[in-house]
Amino acid sequence: MATVRGHRAGLPATRARHTDRPGHDATGGDTVPGAVELHARNVSFDWADTPLHWIPGHPVCANYISVLNMLLPEGERWFVRTFNEALPLVKDAELASAMRGFIGQEAMHAETHDKALWEVLERHGIDPRPYQLQMEWVFRKILAPTDSSDPRAQQKHLVERLWLIAAIEHFTAILGDFALNNRWTDVGADPNMVDMFTWHGAEEVEHRCVAHDVATYFADGYFRRARAMLVVTPLLLLLIRRGFVFIMAQDQTLSLNRFQRSLAIWRGVRATVMPNMFATAYQSFSYFRPGFYPDEIGSTAQAVAYLASSPAARRAP
Ligand SMILES: [Fe+2]
Ligand SMILES: [Fe+2]
Repeated sequence: MATVRGHRAGLPATRARHTDRPGHDATGGDTVPGAVELHARNVSFDWADTPLHWIPGHPVCANYISVLNMLLPEGERWFVRTFNEALPLVKDAELASAMRGFIGQEAMHAETHDKALWEVLERHGIDPRPYQLQMEWVFRKILAPTDSSDPRAQQKHLVERLWLIAAIEHFTAILGDFALNNRWTDVGADPNMVDMFTWHGAEEVEHRCVAHDVATYFADGYFRRARAMLVVTPLLLLLIRRGFVFIMAQDQTLSLNRFQRSLAIWRGVRATVMPNMFATAYQSFSYFRPGFYPDEIGSTAQAVAYLASSPAARRAP
């Protein structure tokens, strides 16, 4: 199985310095329980009793976060396809092992959110098909491998996609850290939805370095990294915003104007049940700092502790 810490054996020593601090996490002092092995957890959830507005008192925020159930399945399946394309080209056994762990986790995330999409959103009257078709177009057509038969063009195209994935994983790590540090449970949110997003968030924190390591393995370079983030930030914000407007337009139980929606989101951010998307976009700037490495985000120890106690992960066969 893959090892999160120390799988950067194939990288230059300057890039591997975080692994040279046994037992120390990037968050400043919490102890990591040794090297963490990446593996998929075969989770399942019973959505029979989950309401559409799964955060009591914050229906708009619940809808906003539920956009991820529509966006992630196609996005994460694209991760899996791209990593499967890259995997045979990786000669570093430890990195290849980490990639297999990453692929297993992302595949499980995609299928779990897909199930929630149909068994929660569609069941409550939100037809996700039009949005899904747009996501299929983005991730299966626009971001598909190149048609070129030139091996050099194919490799270059693959490298660009790997850097895009690394940039997206920067955001999933930030959101994963939020999932581990919010007040959903305190306000009585649906326990299954809380566990699903927190399990996913914890695994995002757990594997937050893998995509960066893979992209670096293929072709390191500050310009490539920065360019990928400049593409990913507006794209993600646009897709999330479109998804939110899409859900709100179909939610017959809420009739709010733009100001009321913004106010509801602001209330959610204040109550720590909703990530601050402006702050999240601002955090993306850390990615541009020379020397940035993804283990600066979140805490592996906290993620691993949650995964050890997650009801769904504990039920997993
Ligand atoms: Fe994921
Ligand atoms: Fe991920």
